[in-house]
Amino acid sequence: VDKILLRALRRQKTSRPPVWFMRQAGRYLPEYRATRAEAGGFLNLCYTPKLAAEVTLQPIRRFGFDAAILFSDILVLPHALGQKVWFETGEGPKLDPIKGGADLAALSPNRLTTALAPVFDTLGLLRGQLPPETTLIGFCGAPWTVATYMLEGGGSKDFHVAKTWAYREPAFFRGLIDLLVNSSADYLTAQIDAGAEVVQVFDSWAGVHSPVAFDEWVKRPLLHLAAELKRRRPHVPIILFPRGAHPHQLEAFARDGSGIVDALGLDTTIDLSWAHKALQPRVAIQGNLDPVLLSVGAPQAKAAANALLQTAADTPGYIFNLGHGILPDAKTEAVSAVVDMIKRYPLHEGE
Ligand code: CP3
Repeated sequence: VDKILLRALRRQKTSRPPVWFMRQAGRYLPEYRATRAEAGGFLNLCYTPKLAAEVTLQPIRRFGFDAAILFSDILVLPHALGQKVWFETGEGPKLDPIKGGADLAALSPNRLTTALAPVFDTLGLLRGQLPPETTLIGFCGAPWTVATYMLEGGGSKDFHVAKTWAYREPAFFRGLIDLLVNSSADYLTAQIDAGAEVVQVFDSWAGVHSPVAFDEWVKRPLLHLAAELKRRRPHVPIILFPRGAHPHQLEAFARDGSGIVDALGLDTTIDLSWAHKALQPRVAIQGNLDPVLLSVGAPQAKAAANALLQTAADTPGYIFNLGHGILPDAKTEAVSAVVDMIKRYPLHEGE
């Protein structure tokens, strides 16, 4: 079968847009909460292939998404490099922060593929269990976003620590970014060899920089990573999600990433009719329903989803998704209403 997501990523004609949701596996699903309890801890869930494959499949079974995204986390990479990483319930991720050159030098990129073997085993299990029409997506965090967690020791509101390193010790900071570019390239290559058919790079905190810093710490590393992957595995489509990037920065990705970047993920703030005109002629676009609408209810979510469809769905190279990850209080009936609506597109009169 010629999978619908792969066709859309090549900007070939499809009968309707493909649909999947960022963070589609997670706490809004009772079956996820049950498996997570069985795993006894979030990292255990990520590193137990049978359970990680199970939670990856849960939203596919329930909603029939066109793609399954590997169940893991962006922070398994620093963990595999040897940094201490743990998850406290209700508090988000915690890390033992990198405090300088010695901590950086102590990281060990050469044990990466051994440490992440369970992730590759999960992908192998999924290849055997997914419906034939469903695409398997691998992912990692972008160098900048992962670096913020490594330096801040967890989430941050203003990125004071990470930015201070970048401004005060640019050589050290660049060393960390380059290490992450190289390890992410190795990590994604191994995910592809284990069965990932598409990869997405999440730059969740791309939107917090000055214009100069954006080019240095978001654009350059993302294009470097994407170019390296394209060189190694030319047939595998690459989706970049620089959340918070401004329209002219997205345009620069589409232009300077020509032949390297296959699709751009758009956050909720981006005007899809602008992206349709400015980006879709060059790259596929993915997005960007406000995830909060899925917590509000089916009627509101469907109305907004319909507006997105009217804007971009009749041109090849549109992938329906959210503008950021699904929230823990999302209503499953709103999710199924939206997915069913996409799958019935083009809608007939009276719908
Ligand atoms: O999309 C999927 O279904 C695949 C799984 C996935 C997770 N995290 C599972 C997860 C993916 C693609 C991610 C990416 C991720 N992780 C990002 C980038 C995307 C984004 O949302 O911006 C970031 C920044 C992280 C780091 C991270 N992991 C945070 C900040 C948190 C805590 C916030 C929260 O939602 O609790 C996590 C934990 C996490 N990762 C959970 C899940 C399902 C919740 C953990 C739990 O079950 O308690």
